[in-house]
Amino acid sequence: MRQAAITGWGKCAPDKVLSNDDLATLLDTNDEWITSRTGMKERRISPVPVSELSYIAAARALACAGVNADDVDMIILGSCSFDSQVPNAASRVQQLLQANNAACMDLNTACTSGMYAMSVASAMIKAGTINNAVIIGAEVIHPFMDWTDRNVAILFGDGAAAFYLEAQDSEENIGIQAEALGCIANSRDILAVNGVGLKYANQGWPLGTTEWDFEGREIFKQAINGMQSGCEKALSKMGISTSDVDIVIPHQANLRIIEALAQRLKVPSEKLFINIHRYANMSAATAPMAIVEAVEENIVKPGDLILVPAFGAGLTWSAQLIRWGQRCEAIGESDVKLPESKETALEIIKKVAEIHLKNPS
Ligand code: UT7
Repeated sequence: MRQAAITGWGKCAPDKVLSNDDLATLLDTNDEWITSRTGMKERRISPVPVSELSYIAAARALACAGVNADDVDMIILGSCSFDSQVPNAASRVQQLLQANNAACMDLNTACTSGMYAMSVASAMIKAGTINNAVIIGAEVIHPFMDWTDRNVAILFGDGAAAFYLEAQDSEENIGIQAEALGCIANSRDILAVNGVGLKYANQGWPLGTTEWDFEGREIFKQAINGMQSGCEKALSKMGISTSDVDIVIPHQANLRIIEALAQRLKVPSEKLFINIHRYANMSAATAPMAIVEAVEENIVKPGDLILVPAFGAGLTWSAQLIRWGQRCEAIGESDVKLPESKETALEIIKKVAEIHLKNPS
């Protein structure tokens, strides 16, 4: 049977680290509050736009799979921080990769975008529309963060992760085996970034500034409910329970959300993969990055069944059950890397904060 196997994986975590203590120099906050309320210790800040960060993760995924960029049929870039709207950002990834035979698509479901991209590519491969795809979950959030708002500014970071999916005719069931996707649109106003999008053009909104509508407690509750129901739907499609799952790799928005979800789904802590302390919430990059790290750290074993619940603005939610293949080692390594840059993470975000302070929206 035609399967969409994941045969390559790669990530790009910029080396510019922004710690909780760094944030406390800019905002009325502290390491103790952030750690105890979120589980976050630090996050990364990208010196390049999302398409360039995506390119590096994608090049690493292709090297891992041992394939050439010319062979790629489709690039799907899942994000909500595209460096250009027209043309799309995936076409820039194609240009950088020299993946000249690939169709290119941007996909935005906010924090779930990377996992939606995986679902779309997997379905297109299984349907025979394409034979393979590079999917990317990537985000460069810091340029549109309101660094004067401690309620949101502490929560997010930049990063990218990518997978190469390819058709395999196999009796073995590999790749996405079941999934559930959804959106609670009546709650779309509880997480909104004002200032980003064409409706703000020519309306006198100060360029380069944002104001976030962010009802943290309400998002918290809906996130747990959405991910729980998504997981239950996906599990029931396979006729299994969480005890049949080898590892749960959730979206990492708050450690307390992850723990509450695990409790409801009866998932023991040893089956949970958590990296929120390293990166905070990288939106679309979060779940893909966590999967890549779980493989790189040998936590994912050949043939493992992985459950990936996620949620994001919209409020979108998703849950995929992914059967990993037999290979957990990379075939090759790419030598592409981020350009040298001397600016620190704190220096980069201070510049954005100054724009906000000069132009209060
Ligand atoms: O992928 C989607 C992204 N969104 C999310 O994941 C958000 C989900 N929500 C959350 O993770 C949590 O609701 C937050 C981490 C955002 C907030 O945690 P909370 O436990 O719900 O705190 P709270 O908003 O109820 O605030 C408690 C107190 C308040 O002070 P008072 O009113 O009790 O005096 C806040 O003003 O903490 C204060 N506070 C802070 N203090 C220090 C809020 N932010 C901060 C901060 N540092 N950064």
